[in-house]
Amino acid sequence: MTEQEILEVIEAFTRAAARTKKAGFDGVQLHCAHGFLLSDFISPYTNRRIDRWGGSVENRARIVTEIVRRIKEQAGADFPILVKLNATDDFRPNSQRTDIKVEISQAIETAKILEKAGVCAIEVSGGLSKTSGIAIRLAINSPTKEAYFREYSKAIKKAVNIPVILVGGIRSLSVMEHLLENGFADMVSMSRTFICEPDLVLQLKSRKTTKAKCVSCNLCFDIEGIKCNFDFN
Ligand SMILES: Cc1cc2nc3c(=O)[nH]c(=O)nc-3n(C[C@H](O)[C@H](O)[C@H](O)COP(=O)(O)O)c2cc1C
Ligand code: SF4
Repeated sequence: MTEQEILEVIEAFTRAAARTKKAGFDGVQLHCAHGFLLSDFISPYTNRRIDRWGGSVENRARIVTEIVRRIKEQAGADFPILVKLNATDDFRPNSQRTDIKVEISQAIETAKILEKAGVCAIEVSGGLSKTSGIAIRLAINSPTKEAYFREYSKAIKKAVNIPVILVGGIRSLSVMEHLLENGFADMVSMSRTFICEPDLVLQLKSRKTTKAKCVSCNLCFDIEGIKCNFDFN
């Protein structure tokens, strides 16, 4: 990307956030994970630039901090901006390129930079599609497989003062409570569970259930539309 193209992207994110506010939303989350554009800037695997947008952790995060700065100018300093951040590029085992993956130490540094820029919460995820990193893991069928990025969120939580949200394979109430009570995260977040049980939060709240029914098969990824492959009701 040229310098001009990067500046255009920053303005496009800014306009989108301003429209979001105008439409009545409470805040925005910048997607800086999973191998989309902003995480490609943050990752040293995909970002090989030698200008002010690449190299150091600070330079690689610059596109995000610039977007945050511009959103605050356009949508107001109090309009909440969250970031979903890759804490690991999650290379497949035996990858030869582990020298340039995002390490947790770098993710912690990025999180601190984002906090300083005025981001109000960080959702911790991982997995860069280009490295076969898996953000959306299969067969989460035991509590030990749940919350697969938990060590990363714990490390980031220790380093920042803003709330840290953990995502990835969270299914059981007991695991959620364990994560919150033991410093792994301030909040938990889920995705696939709501595709098959949109009322899951209400069920957990009333203790009608203590575990999501989702079997983490990923069959809901359907070009025709996202829906659960099973009828759990
Ligand atoms: C059908 C589908 C679409 C998704 N789309 C997005 C997306 O647009 N942005 C995003 O940050 N994550 C997206 N994700 C990833 C989830 O937000 C979440 O990080 C991931 O599924 C792991 O959490 P889970 O085990 O609770 O599903 C998607 C996941 C699924 C299954
Ligand atoms: S198809 Fe249904 S059970 Fe399978 S991952 Fe998607 S929501 Fe979960």
